[in-house]
Amino acid sequence: MDLRKKFFTDRTALITALADAVCERLDRAISSRGRATLAVSGGSTPKPLFEALSGRELAWDKVTLLLVDERWVAVDDPASNEHLVRSSLLQDRAAAATFIPMKSAAAQPREDEAACSQRLRPLFPLDLVLLGMGSDGHTASLFPGADRLDEAMTLERGKKKICMASTPPTAPHARMTLTLAAILDSREIIIHIVGDEKKTVLDQALAHGPVKDMPIRAILRQEQVPVTVFWAP
Ligand code: 6PG
Repeated sequence: MDLRKKFFTDRTALITALADAVCERLDRAISSRGRATLAVSGGSTPKPLFEALSGRELAWDKVTLLLVDERWVAVDDPASNEHLVRSSLLQDRAAAATFIPMKSAAAQPREDEAACSQRLRPLFPLDLVLLGMGSDGHTASLFPGADRLDEAMTLERGKKKICMASTPPTAPHARMTLTLAAILDSREIIIHIVGDEKKTVLDQALAHGPVKDMPIRAILRQEQVPVTVFWAP
């Protein structure tokens, strides 16, 4: 399946087009199935998109939001992806959406893997997954060199999980992440990246090389779910 690329000359144009695309996909899902599920990433890139989406007209009461990954910190910690979603996306019109958090009261994400999978299971298949990408080629919290990366990226029948704890070797905070199998249990994936550095990283990811060195390659190389990259300088 060909990777679709939507490259823009500025970030404002990207946000408008991406918000249009997200609303169109969610609206289509609501028309055909009565509800829509959207998985979003955290980090710094999606904030302006979330702010734009929050004011859009959509049957938000029929939309369920979840995270592709979460840092295991208090929900009021600025590093929390839930905090980002609550403060920038679940506002205005989008406040009517339902949000299913990844973070629980468990002290460590590993203790919560089974419960987290149970909370999220009814939401699959997802209508749309918005992914980011780190400069090391990670996506969600599938980090190169992470312990249990093979397990988090297996597509083998009987071994697939929905979420898994992960400890990134190169980034702060213990995490919970959707597994590769869960990310691919979706109808569409959009990768949202900005800046020249990330464009270089995307080119590296599209070149030959092991998936475990750049886990985003697993998304770029698979043939089962359509993927579009949205990029602006
Ligand atoms: C997270 C993310 C992660 C993110 C990338 C890009 O919680 O850390 O979901 O996968 O998308 O690290 O992050 P930036 O947008 O901050 O560059």
